[in-house]
Amino acid sequence: MADIDRLYSDRAGKMRKSEIRELLKVTQDPEIVSLAGGLPNPKSFPIQDLQGIVNSVLEHHGATALQYGTTQGVEELRKAIAERSCKDGIDATADNVIITSGSQQALDTVGKIFLNPGDTAVVGLPTYLGGINAFRSYEANLVGIPLDKDGMIIDALEEKIKELLKENFTPKFIYAVPTFQNPAGVVMPESRRKKLIDVAKEYDLVIVEDDPYSKLRFDISHVKPIKAFDDEGRVIYMSTFSKILSPGFRLAWTIASEELTRKMTICKQALDLCTNTFTQFIANEFIKSGSLDLHIMKICEMYKPKRDIMMNAMKKYFPDGYICNKPAGGMFAWVTLPEEIDTEIMFLDALKEKVAYVHGKAFCVDGGGGRSMRLNFSYATNEQLEEGMKRLGVVIDKKLKVLCQ
Ligand SMILES: Cc1ncc(COP(=O)(O)O)c(C=O)c1O
Repeated sequence: MADIDRLYSDRAGKMRKSEIRELLKVTQDPEIVSLAGGLPNPKSFPIQDLQGIVNSVLEHHGATALQYGTTQGVEELRKAIAERSCKDGIDATADNVIITSGSQQALDTVGKIFLNPGDTAVVGLPTYLGGINAFRSYEANLVGIPLDKDGMIIDALEEKIKELLKENFTPKFIYAVPTFQNPAGVVMPESRRKKLIDVAKEYDLVIVEDDPYSKLRFDISHVKPIKAFDDEGRVIYMSTFSKILSPGFRLAWTIASEELTRKMTICKQALDLCTNTFTQFIANEFIKSGSLDLHIMKICEMYKPKRDIMMNAMKKYFPDGYICNKPAGGMFAWVTLPEEIDTEIMFLDALKEKVAYVHGKAFCVDGGGGRSMRLNFSYATNEQLEEGMKRLGVVIDKKLKVLCQ
């Protein structure tokens, strides 16, 4: 075999595989109840509605929908997204929107346009693993800020920024998932969102607001996105169709100032020329027909009882001593176990009991999170959820007994 290794760039040599992707392979085993991935429930996919729309797109827009499109994205879809975003308090037109190949591409683009090797970016402790991987692939130095039940702690953020500046590290951006955070499930209240903007202004930083989950809202009222308070064009907002329609579409969007939008569009040209035109047309028709809002309601109706099953099962089956805030929406619960337990080590025991989760360290750039784990409640059936939590309770119980001997 040819020795290709020596030809790789330094960057490629430093790339690490995604732990979640590796985990998802293990959880393909149908006997394992997977509480691990961040997958929507496949029963939620609006297959019948989409059949009609696909036929109609092919009939009326076939020639354009099957062709290359512009890098920024199909104009009608960008318009529709801008209009919907205005209702959420974001002041945007189609010119501020880019349709990306998933939010993951948007995260990669952010890394590409802001991060030189060794540059610093600030993230939550814990935060989305795909964000960590995207920024690390540009050799960034990621600094973590702890979260509490209201998201990123702003005092800790400011202190850390001051510390970094003293050491001559100027952070480039703050990456935040403020609503139903992945993995912690928490929501940052409006007052804290405003303070975050103030900090970004004070220290001249960009905020990257990643918002895949805000529409999956069960028990709290709508909280305006951080972008709604951005009067200086410092916030790059991103959201996705992955959790509200289908991740297979690979469709997401960014909303940013026209200047940032231009820069990101140039960057995207080299990535994929354009996002999937066909699915953009389908998504646009899905919105225009009024189906998207109805569909989001259906998803929430499906996920809320799943969240409740998980929380009740936790009470029923987990030994005392765990901490978990009930998530008011989204797809995840974050559980912290008694001190003795290392969830990364316990994962092997969980697989033996045929249940899977993601261990907390995967989400923490400081190597912390060892007592925590992320549990997904959207993917499993209600019966599997109950059974999976029961199995996990047994795993934790056994582990505690061994450790406390
Ligand atoms: C916080 C966050 N950002 C981005 C993504 C990626 O989404 P997409 O499927 O649009 O690439 C996810 C997916 O789980 C996520 O949880």
